Amino acid sequence: MSVQEKVEKNLGLLIILTIAVISVGGLVQIVPLFFQKSTTLPVEGLKPYTALQLAGRDIYIREGCVGCHSQMVRPFRAETERYGHYSTAGEFIYDRPFLWGSKRTGPDLQRVGGRYSDDWHRAHLINPRDVVPESIMPSYWWLAENDLDASDIQDKMKVLRYLGHPYSDEQIANAPKELEGKKEIDAVIAFLQSLGTALKGI
Ligand code: HEC
Repeated sequence: MSVQEKVEKNLGLLIILTIAVISVGGLVQIVPLFFQKSTTLPVEGLKPYTALQLAGRDIYIREGCVGCHSQMVRPFRAETERYGHYSTAGEFIYDRPFLWGSKRTGPDLQRVGGRYSDDWHRAHLINPRDVVPESIMPSYWWLAENDLDASDIQDKMKVLRYLGHPYSDEQIANAPKELEGKKEIDAVIAFLQSLGTALKGI
C-alpha cells in the first residue's frame, strides 16, 4: 500500500494530518501579523476618538448604520477612484469594535470625513431626500431631538484607556463638559467628520 493510499483509507490519520497541515498554514499566515508594524501600530496622525466622536460612534452602532454602510475601502481602482486611499490596518487601531461592515446599500463611509459640511450631514440625517432626492436611506430625525447622554462617557474612555487608547486624565475629566448641551446628531456628525481623515491626501 502506498503512503497516499494508507492515509486515504485511515480516517483517523487523515483527520490528524489535515489538522496538522491547516495549523501550519494558519500559523504561517496569521502569526506574522501580530509582529508587523503595519498591522499593530497606528498610522501617523491617527488620534483616538474624542469624547464627542466616541459618543457618536456608539449612536452609529445603536442605529445600525453599519448594516448599510461599510467602512473599508478595498485596494481596487474602482474603489480608490470613488472613495480615496484604500483602508490600512493601522487606521483601525482605535476602533473597538471595528465597523468594517460587509453590506453596501449605501456608499462606503471610511473616507467621508470632510467631504460634506456639518450642515449637509444635519439635513441629510434628518431627511436624506432633502439633499439627495433619489435617496433610499431612512430618516433619523430623532437624532436632532434626543439629548446626548453623557452619563457613561468617562467609564467608556477609562475602559478604552485600559485597552491602550492614549487618553489623558484631563481628556477624561473634560468629557462630560464636551458632551454638555449637545444633541445626538452633533455627536454622529463629529464621528462622521473624523472618518478616514488620518490618511487623507496620500
Ligand atoms: C437602509 C440602508 C441605510 C441605512 C440603515 C443608513 N444609510 Fe446612509 N445611505 C444609504 C444610501 C442608499 C445612501 C446613498 C444616498 C444618499 O446619499 O442618501 C446613503 C448615504 C449616506 C451618507 C452620504 C455618503 C456619501 O459619500 O455621499 C452618509 C454620511 C450616511 N449615509 C450616513 C448614515 C448614517 C450615519 C446612518 C445611521 C444613522 C446611515 N447612513 C444609515 C443607506 C442607508
